[in-house]
Amino acid sequence: MELHLALDGRQDLAGQLYRQLRAAILDGRLAAGDRLPSMRFLAERLAVSRKTVGEAYERLVAEGFLQARVGSGTYVSSQLAPVEHPPMPTAALQANPRWRAIAAGWRMPAHRPARYSFAGGTPDKRRFPFDAWRTCLQRALRLQARSPAFYAEALGNPELRLAISRYLAINRAVRCHWQDILVSQGAQQAIDLLARVMLTPGDLAVVEEPGYPPARLAFEAAGARVLGVPVDREGLRVDCLPEQAKLVYVTPSHQFPLGQPMSLPRRLALLEWARRRQALIIEDDYDGEYRFDGRPLESLQSLDREGRVAYIGTFSKTLFPELRLGYLLMPAALRGELTVAKQLADQHSESLQQLALAHFIGSGAFAQHTRRLQREYARRRQLLLRRLAGDLAPWLEALPAVAGIHLAARLRQPLDCTRLCAQLAERGVLLLDLAPFYAEGPGMPGLLFGFGAIEAQDIDPALDILHELLRQH
Ligand SMILES: Cc1ncc(COP(=O)(O)O)c(C=O)c1O
Repeated sequence: MELHLALDGRQDLAGQLYRQLRAAILDGRLAAGDRLPSMRFLAERLAVSRKTVGEAYERLVAEGFLQARVGSGTYVSSQLAPVEHPPMPTAALQANPRWRAIAAGWRMPAHRPARYSFAGGTPDKRRFPFDAWRTCLQRALRLQARSPAFYAEALGNPELRLAISRYLAINRAVRCHWQDILVSQGAQQAIDLLARVMLTPGDLAVVEEPGYPPARLAFEAAGARVLGVPVDREGLRVDCLPEQAKLVYVTPSHQFPLGQPMSLPRRLALLEWARRRQALIIEDDYDGEYRFDGRPLESLQSLDREGRVAYIGTFSKTLFPELRLGYLLMPAALRGELTVAKQLADQHSESLQQLALAHFIGSGAFAQHTRRLQREYARRRQLLLRRLAGDLAPWLEALPAVAGIHLAARLRQPLDCTRLCAQLAERGVLLLDLAPFYAEGPGMPGLLFGFGAIEAQDIDPALDILHELLRQH
């Protein structure tokens, strides 16, 4: 603990020290149970005698503020009641109105623990091989201890970028050179960096409707006008795209939130539209590594012959989101700007975890983990689909999806989804309503079933509760 203490002149030094320590205890900077520095250390630090410090400590002990524990040191008395901190004063500061509007409208669901959680987009952290990860972290620490203290490469650790490029080439048929990869703080930072370097206030950015709210908001924060273009069973309605737009953000492997893949004709039409309008396509492949049916369609990035696609991926779904590790395959034309934007945002992503992840992928642990999860998720998805096609079918219709760790289902009958989700929450079931993902008016009523967090044996009991409530509605 390093408490700021400053003595003035040579008068009444013990008294000054006493008053400053007492004030620190009374205003909560020193809390009950905190250990004070030893008398010798403090005397050296403040260039006073040990006797001076001793006098101040003794007085505070006598008044009950401190407790001396033999052989252990001096502590703030554990009997003291915790101090209530006064609220910080709110000065009249005018934030950028765009940010004020975004902060006022922010409605991302907070993490809510539940007995049965169908939370969207949450992977199974219980099955993460923490022992293997610890070994990778230890190795990374050893490497880091040997290197000089300086900023690392803005685009990320070369070993990790190479591992990501190999992974993309093999698993996702994405053509890339490791030097075109930027390691970001999750997919979100990649979206944000693209918004910063591409958009001038007033530009038009297109997103899917329904879609992923944090992408729309990142474009709005950069000053863009954002237009939601509807999706149908084949993905984005390319025929509804506006005449001009600076960029189009899509989730072609697993449309967020409805789940359908974008068909090949639509992919080709979107690329052609972007070519004619000189627009950028952002391809967010956030959970496409989990595939359950059929052969994967080629990514927009690999169909593109012009360098118009920025391909984004994340480790939030394959490992876990708190790692904040994602990547962006940069179009050649934006490389310089994106490199500087990344530097201005945070210099570079945290390097210990990057090194650990490079080793985790290189050692085969990553592939082994995702294979195990793939089997587990396939089982859960089957259980869900069986119930949706069985006793839940009078109310719900599963929407077609071949990849990812959530399914969406359409409500066949009009009913109050908000109320249904609130009632489910009361019974311990966390299920998301599709409504908040529609930004431009009411959309198709339905529910989003994430199956990354729920154990297979919990699916039936949770759906029994849903069934019971649907019967009552
Ligand atoms: C469409 C979409 N993109 C990206 C992400 C992941 O973002 P991040 O990598 O920032 O955790 C999610 C997570 O739910 C998502 O749904």
